Amino acid sequence: MIEHLPGIPTEKVMILDFGSQYTQLIARRIRELNVYAEIVPYRISFEEIRREKPSAIILSGGPSSLYEKNAPRTGAEIFGLGVPVLGICYGLYVVVDAFKGKIKGSSHKEYGRAEITIREKSKLFKGLKKSQTVWMSHGDKVTTPPPGFRVVASSVNAETAAIENSEKRIYGVQFHPEVYHTVHGSAILRNFLFDICGLKPSWNMKSFIASSVEAIRAEVGDGTVLLGLSGGVDSTVTAVLLDRAIGKRLFCVFVNNGVLRKNEAEQVIERFKRHLKLNLIYVDASNRFLRKLKGVGNPEKKRQIIGREFIRVFMEEARKIGRFDFLAQGTLYPDVIESVSTKGPSDTIKSHHNRVPEVLKLIKSGRVIEPLKELFKDEVRVLGKELGLADELVHRHPFPGPGLAIRIVGEVTRERVATLQEADAILIEEIRAAGLYRKLWQMFAVFLPVKSVGVMGDKRTYENVIALRGVTSVDAMTADWAYLPEEVMRKISNRIINEVRGINRVVLDISSKPPSTIEWE
Ligand code: XMP
Repeated sequence: MIEHLPGIPTEKVMILDFGSQYTQLIARRIRELNVYAEIVPYRISFEEIRREKPSAIILSGGPSSLYEKNAPRTGAEIFGLGVPVLGICYGLYVVVDAFKGKIKGSSHKEYGRAEITIREKSKLFKGLKKSQTVWMSHGDKVTTPPPGFRVVASSVNAETAAIENSEKRIYGVQFHPEVYHTVHGSAILRNFLFDICGLKPSWNMKSFIASSVEAIRAEVGDGTVLLGLSGGVDSTVTAVLLDRAIGKRLFCVFVNNGVLRKNEAEQVIERFKRHLKLNLIYVDASNRFLRKLKGVGNPEKKRQIIGREFIRVFMEEARKIGRFDFLAQGTLYPDVIESVSTKGPSDTIKSHHNRVPEVLKLIKSGRVIEPLKELFKDEVRVLGKELGLADELVHRHPFPGPGLAIRIVGEVTRERVATLQEADAILIEEIRAAGLYRKLWQMFAVFLPVKSVGVMGDKRTYENVIALRGVTSVDAMTADWAYLPEEVMRKISNRIINEVRGINRVVLDISSKPPSTIEWE
């Protein structure tokens, strides 16, 4: 079953996911063109596709080979819906296969930039020059295009770089228009959406709010909703959206898990009670969390403990309030994509606190509302702004659910939390003062339980290390380490070593993602 998103507009593009690493990018590019796009696993039934009434279908790329046994395919019925289809890379093979063309493994694999030549006039390439730089990533290639299809573009290694059957409005491209390196990729998608499918660029955050509010009202009826609030952008935007939809039937539970940033609890209470005037239930459970974390050094264990303890505290509060019908979460698209993907993650890199077993059980029984589930972080920021939230809040750096616990390498103790809070507060203050905060995706301090020798005054010291982690990124899927001006780094380091007790050394993390991750644990 497709999990329903509150706020689905009537015109939408359905992306059948064959497991490409770029599938999310397809959705993103299309939404940048103000058309709503949704990703579904390629296996969903034809009945479900028909019920969803997509205005266009895109078949994504994928890691498989079509001539492998049990290669993923979609039923041929979708091509009879009368809805335009665009197959991308593996999606092109699916089209070719369905219409009885031929595909073969090739010794000339093509990865990276390539030049294509547009051979014949096609609506897909309208307004573009004859020669185009595109991003290729394939091992197989089309050897015989299917009957009824024209080859409209070629590259050196792929004679069939784009095909079309304009009558049936079925198209296929060997390259990836969704990747930035395909220089005119957006123009190609625009041609597909507007010229070929006849869609209107009418999806934006304003329309998202209106349809979201309506959908939440329809789903909740006269029920009550309990929202787990962290105070960050995602849960705050979720709260404000729910408040618009159901007002005082929304209860926000803010749990202090003992691993928040300095003064965070006070700030959140102030914001929600005074400014936003929401029903806020504050629970200081820090002792409880810190007790559970005692002696635990394993990163995944820490994540599990915090995730589960949170849901326990949350449920206890729920019982105190009495009846509640739905649980709401500020889950974003990248948080759930792994459960949508066809192949699933080959490895759980980091477990997500919004997907602990207790929550999964509630999701199964249809009692979880996640209005931001299809959005990326930058889209949530635009939404927050549209909902009238202050810039300062909307542009806050992401802060993980397990909080400082995953920024303290090894065991989490009260003392270490206090040390890290101080160091982190100085770091944030200085990057704000230098006007760098908004330029960075994230910057934070990490506590390393490594002791090294120093000298302060005339005294020998033997204390711990703080690592500074700053990155630039568009969506946290990939990230580059950020280079700060020397004088800013000097000031941060001086202040941390002089002002934070127990720290005598500051180091800089210069690792990109991948192969590192943004957080240390
Ligand atoms: P990594 O460390 O995987 O992080 O490169 C990518 C982004 O996700 C944030 N992050 C989390 N956010 N709960 C969250 O809400 C979590 O458990 C979690 N783990 C990582 C991280 O801060 C970065 O922005």
